[in-house]
Amino acid sequence: MNHIILIGFPGSGKSALGVVLSHKLNLPFVDTDLFISQKVGCSIPEIFKTEGENAFRLKEKEALVEILKKEPHVIATGGGMPCFFSNMELMKKAGITIYLKAEPEQLTEWLLKSSGNRPLTAHKNREELSVFVDNLLKQRAPYYEQASLFLPAHGASVDVLAVTLKEELDRLKLKGDILTD
Ligand code: S3P
Repeated sequence: MNHIILIGFPGSGKSALGVVLSHKLNLPFVDTDLFISQKVGCSIPEIFKTEGENAFRLKEKEALVEILKKEPHVIATGGGMPCFFSNMELMKKAGITIYLKAEPEQLTEWLLKSSGNRPLTAHKNREELSVFVDNLLKQRAPYYEQASLFLPAHGASVDVLAVTLKEELDRLKLKGDILTD
């Protein structure tokens, strides 16, 4: 199953890139956070507030399993998705994982502009956010770095990316054909 799966720290532009990529590659798009909140009937911050992070992580895993069973999609994942349970392993088996990579300083700046709707980063000033991003990125990098492709966050040319992905998909298909022959 060849899903195109975007992973990376919050604020790295997974959803924005995912929408454009899905048009380019003519594949349906799904954002795991949106999928969960539509299913549960409330927003991600509400789930964190009423049920806690552990409950959210379980819902996130269930959503991933359900989405990966579908026909190939471009999938934008929540920033913590690869770092819990065996999610990263599942994603690697199900398609091409792409890590949108950025330096902590840059992520802090992006998050300062948009952290209101993110329960983990809301209500932090620049200094607190900077320490938080630095620490969390250190913990998460070993998961993110298992991705099959790395791209600069917010810097990837979608046209170039679409061509690279098509080549990668063709290569994988070819490998599949050889293996099944
Ligand atoms: C989270 C990132 C969020 C969302 C939730 C937890 C995280 O998604 O899944 O708030 O643990 O990094 P984005 O990466 O789209 O902000």
